[in-house]
Amino acid sequence: MSIISPSTNPGRLRSFIHCLAVLLDDKPTEDRILCEGGVLLRQLIAVDDWLPDACAQARPERYQQYLLHADSSERFSVVSFVWGPGQTTPIHDHTVWGLIGMLRGAEYSQAYRAADDGSLRPEGDAVKLVPGTVEAVSPTIGDIHRVRNAFADSVSVSIHVYGANIGAVRRSVYAEDGSSKPFISGYSNAHLPNIRDRSIELENL
Ligand SMILES: [Fe+2]
Repeated sequence: MSIISPSTNPGRLRSFIHCLAVLLDDKPTEDRILCEGGVLLRQLIAVDDWLPDACAQARPERYQQYLLHADSSERFSVVSFVWGPGQTTPIHDHTVWGLIGMLRGAEYSQAYRAADDGSLRPEGDAVKLVPGTVEAVSPTIGDIHRVRNAFADSVSVSIHVYGANIGAVRRSVYAEDGSSKPFISGYSNAHLPNIRDRSIELENL
């Protein structure tokens, strides 16, 4: 019987990173990345036993974004977003492909589209993401949205994968009048989780 605690099973994340890297080695189209990468992300979030507790901590001042892994060539990054009660993003873009998988709680993603007068208008209803849901964004399929925790009294966690080292990408936040400001998000953590120590897993074989 395994004695791995619920938050210390890194094998699932390690496997996801490997499989995504193999997919990207094939230089796939964006469609294929979103489709096959989405399947991999859905598998990753199907079981909630691998996210280190340190990367699941909410803070009252704002939502947190913890880097879990950045590809050595910065082809992709994996980030846990932790939403405190009622926390929300500004309207923002990504400039690269992204996949969002809901792990705990729930969130709403409201897409925006530029109107003829340059203002930003909500496009359709907000999409509710619940555990197991995967959503995609990119400049080709729709890249501007606002995300908020669906709950006013509890924490939600989603796992995001982007086609770049997203914390270092020059992006924009928007007001509803269409005006924008540049931003570079960075990350909330100074240290990455150690997913390469296999000793506990090996001892439990
Ligand atoms: Fe986003």
